[in-house]
Amino acid sequence: MSAPTLDRARAADPLAVSLVAGRLAAPEPTWTVRTDVLVVGSGVAGLTVVAGLASSGLAVHLVTKGALDAGSTRWAQGGIARATADADDVELHVRDTLVAGAGLCEPAAVRRLAAQGRAAVEQLAARGARFDAGPDGAPAQTREGGHSRARIVHAGGDATGAEVQRALQTEVTGATVLEHAFLLDLDRAADGAVTGATVALLDARGGVRSIGRVEARATVLATGGLGHVFSSTTTPPVVTGDGMAAALRAGAVLRDVEFLQFHPTVFAAPGGRTVGQTLLVSEAVRGEGAVLVDAAGNRVMAGVHPLADLAPRDVVAATETARMAELGVDHLYLDARALGEQVLTARFPTVLAGCRAAGVDPVTMPIPVRPAAHYSCGGVAADLDGVTSLPGLFAVGEVACTGVHGANRLASNSLLEGLVAGSNLAVLLREDLPARRPRTGAYAPAAGVDPGVRPVLAREMVADAGVLRDPDGLEVLAGLLASTGPATGHALPGRAAWEATNLHALSTVLVDAAVRRTESRGCHRRTDADGPDDAWRAHIDTTVATTSVPVAGLDQRMVAVGAGGAR
Ligand code: SIN
Repeated sequence: MSAPTLDRARAADPLAVSLVAGRLAAPEPTWTVRTDVLVVGSGVAGLTVVAGLASSGLAVHLVTKGALDAGSTRWAQGGIARATADADDVELHVRDTLVAGAGLCEPAAVRRLAAQGRAAVEQLAARGARFDAGPDGAPAQTREGGHSRARIVHAGGDATGAEVQRALQTEVTGATVLEHAFLLDLDRAADGAVTGATVALLDARGGVRSIGRVEARATVLATGGLGHVFSSTTTPPVVTGDGMAAALRAGAVLRDVEFLQFHPTVFAAPGGRTVGQTLLVSEAVRGEGAVLVDAAGNRVMAGVHPLADLAPRDVVAATETARMAELGVDHLYLDARALGEQVLTARFPTVLAGCRAAGVDPVTMPIPVRPAAHYSCGGVAADLDGVTSLPGLFAVGEVACTGVHGANRLASNSLLEGLVAGSNLAVLLREDLPARRPRTGAYAPAAGVDPGVRPVLAREMVADAGVLRDPDGLEVLAGLLASTGPATGHALPGRAAWEATNLHALSTVLVDAAVRRTESRGCHRRTDADGPDDAWRAHIDTTVATTSVPVAGLDQRMVAVGAGGAR
């Protein structure tokens, strides 16, 4: 097959009118503060940057949309993957990560991640994190999907993220913290460099208290993913893609946004709600022996993949979705009864309590599960030091696309990436802080999306851009996005409109790329393509065509794997 093109000129193509807001509609700022480093986001990646800058003499501002612990990190269950003391395991961790990433990982970045893993986890322990110990007193290690060895450390049984968050929060004492502060847009110098951010301080009910500017020599995005593009997700309500969308509007490159990972085992509460954040049933439950079955007790993953229930997540989610369609049901079951009450209580207290609260006892009953949006493998193109395509702008953690996840993230590599990239960036900023640049005062008219369309779009995203993507459904979705796009005066400025505008922009980027990528690879699965196509072994980079008008077109191009990072 010849190399696919990204020609956007077809008049009938609904994508040709895909638009994003030039910037969010908001009143003029009434205050300004100046700092050296502005970190936006307070999960593992952001807090690791802040911790790494402690006693550096640099002024650091930490801005976060909710309370410090409102982001995704504290919900992470499984653990942190890191190569074991066995020297060969770095190579094995690299190999497992590359296999899961289905040809789109950047091998050099993966190698760096694996090589830095042990030191990153030791540094976290030195910062006070307490990991679960095995019988010999050393950290206990488990397996999850796609891992050829048990190399995942965990805390509190299935509460690893909560422990990571707790330990790192004790390290923010040197920074000025602004909680309940919404990132509106990145501010820029005449040469396009980022000079800080405009933020809205929110009151307890989400109303706007004031708008202000934080001027910084380095602006770090650590805002997490875009889970709430979909109506059902494991991510908490604050995860609305604000950092990714602001970066896009500022002219940064977004990479591979179509690769949204769906977690195969999210609790499907009997008769319960199916929208918003839903309870994760950790993959580590399968790591300890639980199996996916249908209502008749037939194994779902047997014979599908050599690793069966521990196949990479994209394989499990796709198999599960196909089986659900075949059976005409909206959930399957995870049978964890063989683990017994003792193991379930000690290893999975969060899962056990969550299921029991909804009337399902995993000790005696199979757990109803279905896939839900979990993790964004794509994001702001960056390297593993956080460096992006824009001077002065850095991105770490889930908001970034560093090449370590490729087309499908290996389980428990995400907390690891946050630790490694966060530490690397702190070192970089200590050594080489960008110069302060004057912000350009250029007038930029603003536009917004009607928040009323958000739930409709999020449902349609699950239906047409979910685990299995059908080309006709994607085209319909593209048309829906185009017809509900941003306009001036469309929505009253405020949190609801800002979030709807950000989610709409990222849905548009995701769907555009999903239409173009006419193959099935990693967590992008199309019903009209059986597998990967070598011609598509490339990233899709998205930028806005211009940011000088209220709404701007999108530009997408292919970039070969290994052709270089964001710089
Ligand atoms: C899980 O516990 O299954 C989630 C871990 C991850 O997403 O890496």
